[in-house]
Amino acid sequence: MENKANEKKKITVAIAGLGSRGFHAYATLCLNFPDDIEVVAAAEPDPEHMRLFREKYDLPDDRCYETAEEMLKEDRLADAMFICTLDRMHFRQAVAALEKGYDLLLEKPISTNPEECKIIAEKANQLGRKVLVCHVLRYTVFYQTLKKIIDSGEIGDVMSIQAMERVCYWHQAHSFVRGNWRNSDTTSSMILQKCCHDMDIYLWLAGKRCEAVSSFGSLSYFCPAYAPAGATERCSESCSEYETCVYNPHKYYGNLLKGGKVYWPLDVVITEPSEEKLREALKTGPYGKCVFLNDNNVVDHQVVNLLLEGGATVNFTMAAFTATPGRTMNIMGTKGNIEASMDDNSIDVCLFGKEKRHIDVTQLTDDFFGHGGGDGRMISSLVRYFRDGVLDASVTTVDRSVESHYVAMAAEESRLRGGETVRMDEYVQKIGG
Ligand SMILES: NC(=O)c1ccc[n+]([C@@H]2O[C@H](COP(=O)([O-])OP(=O)(O)OC[C@H]3O[C@@H](n4cnc5c(N)ncnc54)[C@H](O)[C@@H]3O)[C@@H](O)[C@H]2O)c1
Repeated sequence: MENKANEKKKITVAIAGLGSRGFHAYATLCLNFPDDIEVVAAAEPDPEHMRLFREKYDLPDDRCYETAEEMLKEDRLADAMFICTLDRMHFRQAVAALEKGYDLLLEKPISTNPEECKIIAEKANQLGRKVLVCHVLRYTVFYQTLKKIIDSGEIGDVMSIQAMERVCYWHQAHSFVRGNWRNSDTTSSMILQKCCHDMDIYLWLAGKRCEAVSSFGSLSYFCPAYAPAGATERCSESCSEYETCVYNPHKYYGNLLKGGKVYWPLDVVITEPSEEKLREALKTGPYGKCVFLNDNNVVDHQVVNLLLEGGATVNFTMAAFTATPGRTMNIMGTKGNIEASMDDNSIDVCLFGKEKRHIDVTQLTDDFFGHGGGDGRMISSLVRYFRDGVLDASVTTVDRSVESHYVAMAAEESRLRGGETVRMDEYVQKIGG
């Protein structure tokens, strides 16, 4: 009897989009919390994705839908909807889901358009729905440790942050030259889609709002000017660099397959690990294209400067041209600075006039699955927020997420205007905020 009274209700979830995020990340992670969260419905147009999903999750036929739109015609099927479709679908699906009464786990970007971001935030607030935008980095032990150190006041007031996102040559080629996010006309700008996480995280770490933004950047390398002699639209042996090109997809994905690395990014190219499927995918699909002769238009390097309230500054660089992926940062305060590297799980606290203190994040956690452990920790924070109404320190409300989206969009506006400064109050006023 007593146990029953203490039992907490499970959060039920309907997932829109069973791709990398909806299926392989979030649905899989929900299985780690069997008493707290359960997937009860899903929508996905790709029959292969749906078939594989149903092999793993025992969903009845009448809870599987071909599209999110179809699923949203039904009365509310669950407590929450996870919106994990592609960037330009989020807005309409999110509005419909809020109106149906769902709380939302909403993949970033909220929308590719600032007015629509504003509408989502307003609607969620009006209807009293919870919306958690997938700023997964906030939930990692790495960033939470940084936040605690900064909030303790140990390094004094934050005056300047220098940060870098090393996208890495192969990730750029996979996602931003050949993949879903290669062309901003069909998705969104690089700074929004890839780096809205960074805009969010540095505003959160500094605990300050952004007053002005400027940015430069371009697509300089992954374009015809750098195509080797004889390059063909699809990677082929007639290209002079076929044997040596690091972007040769037959070699890159082929080696992943041979090495048994059948998870991301290979699982985006082929749903089942077989040489024949890979050959076919590279012959007909987007991942077999030459990286220099494609329809990509998103930048391969960009710098963004932020002026924060009180005069603090952030200088952020994203670049494709790195051998390994990762994020590094130097957070400089009035009493000391923090030098940190997410991929090395290393945090050095350097107080002025004192010995450096090294923190090895691998000593604090052993869960680094999915964005440094952020994906899974976000799901457990979601349960606490949606079910128990507890807002963990790292949870970002939709209003805060919208703000960092505006900063990313303003950075893109500045870049397109040759680096002109965009003042955030004017930007927000322009969109009726
Ligand atoms: N938070 C993060 O760190 C992070 C990381 C990667 C991607 N993302 C974002 O997550 C979203 C999904 O990315 P992904 O990598 O999973 O892409 P994906 O292409 O692997 O998955 C999207 C899925 O949506 C399905 N779909 C298309 N139309 C649909 C519809 N009408 N209804 C339901 N499903 C539909 C597609 O068939 C596909 O399976 C994107 O917006 C992306 O920007 C976020």
